[in-house]
Order: sequence, then structure tokens, then C-alpha cells
Amino acid sequence: MLFLGIDLGTSSVKVIAMDEKNQIIGEASETYPLFFPKEGWAEQNPEDWWHGTLNALKSLLAQPQINAAEVRGIGFSGQMHGLVSLDASNNVLHPALLWCDQRTDQECETLTNDYGLTKLRDTVANQALTGFTAPKILWIKNNHPELFKQIQHILLPKDYIRFKLSGAYATDYSDASGMLLLDIENKCWSKEMCQFLGLDMNVLPKLYHSYEVTGVVSEYLCELLGFEGDVVLVGGAGDQAAGAVGTGTVKAGVISVTLGTSGVVFAAHDAFKVDDEMRLHAFCHANGKYHSMGVMLSAASTLKWWAENIHPDTPLEILLAEAELAPLGSQNVFFLPYLLGERTPYADPNARGTFVGMTPATTRGSMTRAILEGVTFGLNDSLNILKANQVPIEEIRMIGGGAKSSFWQQLLADVFDAPVCKVNTDQGGALGAAILAAVGCGHFDTVESACESIISTSHHVLPRVEHVARYKALHTRYTELYQTLKTWF
Ligand code: XUL
Repeated sequence: MLFLGIDLGTSSVKVIAMDEKNQIIGEASETYPLFFPKEGWAEQNPEDWWHGTLNALKSLLAQPQINAAEVRGIGFSGQMHGLVSLDASNNVLHPALLWCDQRTDQECETLTNDYGLTKLRDTVANQALTGFTAPKILWIKNNHPELFKQIQHILLPKDYIRFKLSGAYATDYSDASGMLLLDIENKCWSKEMCQFLGLDMNVLPKLYHSYEVTGVVSEYLCELLGFEGDVVLVGGAGDQAAGAVGTGTVKAGVISVTLGTSGVVFAAHDAFKVDDEMRLHAFCHANGKYHSMGVMLSAASTLKWWAENIHPDTPLEILLAEAELAPLGSQNVFFLPYLLGERTPYADPNARGTFVGMTPATTRGSMTRAILEGVTFGLNDSLNILKANQVPIEEIRMIGGGAKSSFWQQLLADVFDAPVCKVNTDQGGALGAAILAAVGCGHFDTVESACESIISTSHHVLPRVEHVARYKALHTRYTELYQTLKTWF
């Protein structure tokens, strides 16, 4: 038996194959374009996702060690929140508006003021953020009423791929959570929100658990890809929930910290939980339970910006080595990493990246270090909100490109004042997707038992007592900086 995981990201799609012994025996990926037609807008063409996925599947299945006839199930991990609208003939009505698109400022204001914060908390458990799907639907309604009237189906990015593979209009609870249309606690679409948007509930996809079977691959595609017999498609999950499955963050007490393009602090819960001020996203998890997460829009991407735009002639490794040599606290230089605005903890699309505190003695190493410290303080903001909500924190697992740096690992442990560890895989969402497929096919009884068998931790980094107090004081100064600048942004 083989289980495939399809991870539909923002810059590329990755597909992997996992065998019955839980080994990843092959992978392939394809890139596709991302368009920024106006400042703050971010769009993709769903057809590009589909062609990319099909090509990636074909090149995976063409690998000699893979026998397509053994594929039994497919799971998904998908970039979240994106809006795909189809008309009555299943034509895509407009380019997909993506999670990082910021055009819906006004629509978020309407939702916050007219629908109201209390009602948001009571019905969909989350505040209105520019990236979420409901404000995008409202934007289409306000700006392209003729398209809005033609909408017959609304899908999330990965669910468009499911539709192309099987013809089913379906999604899963974790991904649906980021639409601002789901009653998270009761796991059903919110009538109140749909009424407010003037949206016919019938256009929304059918809801499933991430490990439930939503359909089978069409006969035509089975033939094209060399599948034999039924190949089931499970619900899959939003990329953060799928990534959490891929790191074993599926039980209370385990927290994962992603140092990727964006930065995420993710906690699994047994029961529904919402932060009173809704600073964290309160979503359904892929294991059938719930999770909260804080999301920083720019984490490791701040370093990429620093290296590529500001120091194009210096390799990143050199910049990092200089940062490591700079003194703790970066000679009193602070960096606010809000290059794209920020979600957690401020929900402020207007916040911006900021350096403060330079003198003639400031070195490039200190400025690079201030970036690393700033991102880590930002992640700690999310961790502190989890603590304020009495979320148990027993183990912190680091993942993402940034987690490969031993300097950043130690920085996280020192700023968090907690041990942090690594996991034995970096396949993230794609592995989570394959695990969900394996659960859906009965290869494992539960998502938790699958994670127990496949994922382990290693490389525990302990906080250094002498650094912890100094970072606490610096974090307070860092927080004051946003408070001082927020009206200026
Ligand atoms: C989660 C989020 C990102 C996107 C893109 O809320 O916005 O994880 O799904 O990866």
C-alpha cells in the first residue's frame, strides 16, 4: 500500500509517497507563479495549481521505486484562506485571492463594526483578518457584484485540487476554520455569518474530518496516472494543521514553533478554546479536536529580505555568523519584523518593519542579530498569550528552515525560557497529508497513533539561565516599541 500527500503551497506543490512501513519513498514538486497585480494584492491561478499538481503526481509516479497500482489513498495539506469561486459550469470566476492578500481592510472593518466583535467570537470564534476568506467574499460582492451573483461553489485552494481529482465539493474542518464562516465549536457553517454576507449556504463545500474519505479519484485520472482500484481522497487539512500532524503536535501539552517564511506557534487542545481577545486563531485540528495558533506574517522571510534586498553581495551564512558574534541585545538595536503588517498579537495590516537604536558603533552583525531577536520576541508574544490562557506547555518542537540554525535554536530556548527540541522529519505538511491518508485507509486507527509510530524528537536545547533574564527585559522594550509606533504606522 502507498499513501500520497499533496502539499499545495504558495510557491510550489510538493507530493510525497509513504509506504506501509511509514517510509517516504519518493517526492516531486512543481512551481507556479504568484501575482501581485496591485500593492497589497496577491493572487494565483487555480488552473496553475491543478497543472502543477498533475505534473508533480506524474513525475512522482514515474519514479522506478514507485508502483502507482499500490496507491490506496491521497491526503492534502493546503495554503489556507484563499478564495476560489466557481460558476454553474465549474469555471473559475476570478483569480484566487490568497491568504497574504491585504486588500480587504474595509471589509474587515465592516465585519468588526457592523457584524460586531462579540458576534464574531460567539459565531466563528475569530476576529476578521484581511487574510481570511469571508472578507474576500465580501470584497468580491462589493467590487464585482456581477461575479458574486454567479458564484455556485466556493472552495479553498487544496479543495479545488480535490474537486479536479474527484468531482467532489468538499473541505475539512481545519481548513474551513480559516474562512471565518465556520462555527468552530460546533463544527458546522455559521448561518449568522452567511446571512450577514448575503451568501447562500449551498455554495459552501461539504464538511469532513481531515482523515475521513471525501471521494475517490475519477476513472479518467486513475487511468492517466496508473492507479488501480479505488484511490480514496481524505479531507486533508490546512497547511498549519497538516504540518502539526507532520511534527506530532496532536496532543495537549505539545507546542510546535515554525520558523518558516511565516512564524507560527501552534498548540493542540482536547477541547474548544478561544482567547477572550481573539489574538490567537481558534481553529479545528486535523485529529478531530481543536488547536490555537499565533501567526507572524514575516519570520525567516525577514532574513531573506535582509540578505537579498539589502546585502545582495553577502551570503546569508556570513550574515548569520556575524550575528552570532554580535553581543546579546544587539548593541541596543531593535527590529520590529512587521514587513507585511502583523497578525498575532496585533492584527495590524499597517504595521511595518522597523530598525531602532543605531549609533555610529552599530555593526551589520548587530542589525542581523536584532532581526533574529525581533522575530523570536514576536514568537514569544504568541507563546505568552498561550500561557495567559493556561494552555499546558510541556514540550516545544521547532520546525522550518530557521530551526536548522543552532544559533536560532538556542535563541528560542533562551527567549522562551523553556527547552526546545527538533523532530526526526522535516517533511511537514506533506507528511501530515500522507499520514491523514493512511489513517483514512485504516492503516492506523487514529492520527495520534500514527504520529506516535512515525515521529520522534531529538536534540533538546536548554535555556541558559544567565541569558533568560536579559532577554525578558529586552522583550519588554521590544513590546513598548510597537505600542509607541502603532499610531505612526
Ligand atoms: C495560516 C496561514 C498560512 C497560509 C500559507 O493561517 O495563513 O499558513 O496557509 O501558508
